[in-house]
Amino acid sequence: MQVRRSLISTGLTVAVTAAVTATLTTTVGASATPAALPAAAASTTGAAAPAGHVPDPTTATLRQLAQHTKLRIGTAVNTDALANDATYRRMVAEQFSTVTPENVMKWEVVEPQRGQYDFSAADQLVRFARAHGQKVRGHTLVWHNQLPTWLTSGTWTPAQLRAILKQHIFTEMRHFRGQIWAWDVVNEAFNEDGSLRNDIWLQNLGPGYIADAFRWAHQADPKAILFYNDYNIEGINAKSTAVYDLVKRLRAQGVPIQGVGAQGHLDTQYPFPNDMLQNLRRFGAIGVDTAVTEADVRSVLPVDPAEVNAQAQGFSLMLQSCLLVRSCISYTLWGFTDKYNWVPGVFKGEGYATPFDENFNPKPAYDTMRRDLALAPSLPSRGVRGLH
Ligand code: XIL
Repeated sequence: MQVRRSLISTGLTVAVTAAVTATLTTTVGASATPAALPAAAASTTGAAAPAGHVPDPTTATLRQLAQHTKLRIGTAVNTDALANDATYRRMVAEQFSTVTPENVMKWEVVEPQRGQYDFSAADQLVRFARAHGQKVRGHTLVWHNQLPTWLTSGTWTPAQLRAILKQHIFTEMRHFRGQIWAWDVVNEAFNEDGSLRNDIWLQNLGPGYIADAFRWAHQADPKAILFYNDYNIEGINAKSTAVYDLVKRLRAQGVPIQGVGAQGHLDTQYPFPNDMLQNLRRFGAIGVDTAVTEADVRSVLPVDPAEVNAQAQGFSLMLQSCLLVRSCISYTLWGFTDKYNWVPGVFKGEGYATPFDENFNPKPAYDTMRRDLALAPSLPSRGVRGLH
């Protein structure tokens, strides 16, 4: 079964690779950098590379290799590791051009007691990002998880809860105003069948809470790109179609929503979203930017060689799909090392979810991603408005 899965992925990835090549030779034409790779001139950040220059994919970092594609490459950051682990810190700086706080912008962290705010850990990450020329993805404002107890155990009227949510969005977004590139405003609001999740927000505020959240978010920080974010919406299915329908409807109503994030949590024991390219394209076609926001590819432990290969194919499928779509502005790993990773704590018996092992040694997935970036079309800009 696992061998089958990995063979299937390999075939489909070849198809996507062929599409990359086709794009290079036909669509991009003269402006494309030849796939032949000049010798590396690897600066640490990649900032000094001339336009269209593709560094050597066997030595350059993800961040350096992504530069000619204009795709931002990111990671979720564990701020404890950032403070205490020098290797982790160095790799965040060298490999990535965006960062997402893994936990420290979530409601339970920023407002543990009602009216008592703590932005200190998130502030440190924002400073780190500024010092290293990185953009920050804000994560996340409206979600059913990691809410403070005072909120979930309180008794509220709908009007009170609406005011609480509005204040949360305004307080947090105003605190970081101008420093956050993209915000995951609403996270995981849908069930797999495309119905809305029956959480505290839907129960008390009705389905209009989503539009309200985006309107408030836009008022609070007009320059941030506002995203809807969810898992299992990489391919075309009932859930991603419900998100697509919602976003289309909201935009027709003038609600300020500018992006859709596919989290990208894959597992080698399940099928991969082989129609991700088509899915990203349909979102781009309704005028929203897209992003892969939380990529990881986990397996049941211990992994066998087929799963090691399947992991590389999973990261590659998502990265190639994103690279081929102009609307796709960033590709973020949900952690880059197994040393600090959420999977073993949440999925019993599973792990191996990131491109680097516990000792920061690269897995095959890392080289596959570097090759994908090197072979991708060189673009002048990304995003539906060509602003990134
Ligand atoms: C996870 C973090 O990685 C864990 O450290 C935390 O205990 C739980 O949340 N979807 C999301 C992320 O949008 O915020 C989640 O992050 C992973 C799933």
